[in-house]
Amino acid sequence: MAERTIGEVILDVKNISLRFGGVKALTDISFNVREHEVRSIIGPNGAGKSSMLNCINGVYSPQEGSITFRGKTFSHMNSRQVAEMGVARTFQNLALFKGMNVIDNLMSGRNLKMKTNIFQQAIHFGAARREETAHREFVEHIIEFLEIQAYRKTPVGRLPYGLQKRVDLGRALAMEPQVLLLDEPMAGMNVEEKQDMCRFVLDVNEEFGTTIVLIEHDMGVVMDISDRVVVLDYGKKIGDGSPEEVRSNPDVISAYLGNSH
Ligand SMILES: Nc1ncnc2c1ncn2[C@@H]1O[C@H](COP(=O)(O)OP(=O)(O)OP(=O)(O)O)[C@@H](O)[C@H]1O
Ligand SMILES: [Mg+2]
Repeated sequence: MAERTIGEVILDVKNISLRFGGVKALTDISFNVREHEVRSIIGPNGAGKSSMLNCINGVYSPQEGSITFRGKTFSHMNSRQVAEMGVARTFQNLALFKGMNVIDNLMSGRNLKMKTNIFQQAIHFGAARREETAHREFVEHIIEFLEIQAYRKTPVGRLPYGLQKRVDLGRALAMEPQVLLLDEPMAGMNVEEKQDMCRFVLDVNEEFGTTIVLIEHDMGVVMDISDRVVVLDYGKKIGDGSPEEVRSNPDVISAYLGNSH
């Protein structure tokens, strides 16, 4: 990770509070993400990690607070607007089209980038076909990058879980995001699959310069690949800093040992 230079703040989360009826999923959360960094969000089950990502990508509207992305501040934005601004995500529970093959799933991530709609396609058939070809080439490049050439035409539902997660990463990469939000990309994987996924996440970060926001339960992975870590517990931020700082933070230690509850 030595050659990578961490840049300015690209994503600034300020005083976010999110409630579901009486449940306080997030309380007054602030943290920032710098360009090109790997920023992890950790915390016990139900801590609010996925809710935080859902606020960032416009799935949930927090009752309080704001999110600034590349200098633009918003409190309510829909998922499409966020995606158009260059934020992509993968999901804790896979959101792939299981009956569709790998190529088509990746092409679905390309939709936002397609300029021509079906009416324009009918009129400007040649232009649409050239555009389609360019998108397919881009998708093939991702397929090579993720080393899934052998499964290009395989329906995603037939692939082993670890490979489905990799296709989900590919779908997000097809959007050419500046910021990639990953919700437990290694959950349920065996050691070898985890190592592969870890390497792909780092390669994306280093080769494409993509900023990564990562939710992960495997502390070995988190400590290994993160530049900075935010720790949530019961919807509150209890730690924020380098992996070393977070690891030695007494509040974090007690949350993980279960002493604080
Ligand atoms: N759509 C929702 N409706 C009601 N409550 C919700 C909703 N989404 C999340 N919550 C609640 O908000 C709290 C935080 O949940 P969240 O899924 O963000 O936690 P998490 O840290 O991602 O947990 P895990 O590690 O298990 O994935 C939980 O109490 C959860 O039940
Ligand atoms: Mg979650």
